[in-house]
Amino acid sequence: MPALVLLGAQWGDEGKGKATDLLGGSVDYVVRYQGGNNAGHTVVVGDQKYALHLLPSGILSPGCTPVIGNGVVVDPSVLLSELSGLNERGVDTSKLLISGNAHVITPYNVTVDKVTERFLGKRKIGTTGRGIGPTYADKINRVGIRVQDLYDESILTQKVEAALDIKNQILTKLYNRRAIAVGQVVEELLGYAEQIRPYVADTVLILNQALEENKVVLFEGGQGTLLDIDHGTYPFVTSSNPTAGGACTGAGVGPTKISRVIGILKAYTTRVGSGPFPTELFDEDGEALRRIGGERGVTTGRDRRCGWFDAVIARYATRVNGLTDFFLTKLDVLTGWEQIPVCVAYEIDGKRVEELPYSQTDFHHAKPVYEYLPGWQENISKAKAFSDLPKNAQAYVKALEEMSGAPISAIGVGPGRDETIEINSFL
Ligand code: GDP
Ligand code: IMO
Ligand code: MG
Repeated sequence: MPALVLLGAQWGDEGKGKATDLLGGSVDYVVRYQGGNNAGHTVVVGDQKYALHLLPSGILSPGCTPVIGNGVVVDPSVLLSELSGLNERGVDTSKLLISGNAHVITPYNVTVDKVTERFLGKRKIGTTGRGIGPTYADKINRVGIRVQDLYDESILTQKVEAALDIKNQILTKLYNRRAIAVGQVVEELLGYAEQIRPYVADTVLILNQALEENKVVLFEGGQGTLLDIDHGTYPFVTSSNPTAGGACTGAGVGPTKISRVIGILKAYTTRVGSGPFPTELFDEDGEALRRIGGERGVTTGRDRRCGWFDAVIARYATRVNGLTDFFLTKLDVLTGWEQIPVCVAYEIDGKRVEELPYSQTDFHHAKPVYEYLPGWQENISKAKAFSDLPKNAQAYVKALEEMSGAPISAIGVGPGRDETIEINSFL
């Protein structure tokens, strides 16, 4: 009954797409369980590069069934354009399954996301502007639209009316915007319904039956642990649970079914949008990490904020997700430094702190305490085994493993599928 969860251990963009794609060839189902098209996963297959936002990275593996679970928020226009983009490139997407209980990102949710951010001014979250937060807010407020609502015009109309009742008051009176017409939204959503219908299924039943039949199911987190609405750097987070528990609620699979939880961990740290980031660099090292690591957002094209590896965060990710393994990515990016600083603890108001403080005030005041590990100069992108790595790179990996609390079972040394060192098999 092998069910694996794969998720980001930092603030996203750790290389989840590549890791999922790598395992995709050996699993039967790849399931997205939260988030929406705020995700930006880059997958490199041979000389082809794919940018996936909403679709599970397993869509690129022919034997694998990609699933959009009930916990995901689906923008139908993005879904259809992502599918047709892949079809044009010869990718067969016909196996895709979408939960009828997944919520729909409506055009008004996108509008509300954008106007709210503008209204917040310098207090803004720096969202991706894709309507993610407002759609989850509607879900929790019980005024959300679900995929299954697209197949009952009368129910859809009533629900859109209910949702727009208050929103139009806010849009016109607070934000000085034009009201959104119910009929126009309903018409647009109905226009997508038939194109999406072939994919809509009872994914909870299908996934549980698959697990009963001993099929391999991989749950793919959309974002990183520190962007989790409960366990992240609130309020500078996304509006769902990328942490491991989210896989259970977002796919309808019980926790007893999960056998392994893999944290994708970048060999340094990046973050997009606002919020605290203790090891952030504002000097030429940060610039070099951005340049060498290609740290530019796949979804919004924003430069990613860059900093050194933070072991406090890695330990926290191990704890809140119950990680069994790490997949360390982008080790190759660190080639060329004389020595590499690694944050082993924080100093907060003069005191050394080993674990992530629960208080946001403390976290905002956290200063990194660095240990300096010797660097390496050799190109490592052709390394196939751990022993192929230069001694100092091996020592860097071992040090990170020791500090982070779970074994490093794979190492990424380049963006391609084969640029990976496997240490322990995931399956
Ligand atoms: P995700 O959002 O977690 O899927 O990550 P992104 O795709 O946004 O960002 C990770 C970037 O790093 C992508 O451009 C990947 O192609 C690339 N990448 C993944 N693993 C490695 C690696 O081990 N080395 C290098 N150099 N690039 C990698
Ligand atoms: P992947 O899948 C990095 C960030 C946004 C913003 C915050 C809230 O590529 O790892 P949202 O639009 O979700 O309401 O924005 O979360 N964010 C990400 N940062 N990678 C992502 O996804 C992200 N998805 C959301 O930048 O700070
Ligand atoms: Mg990304």
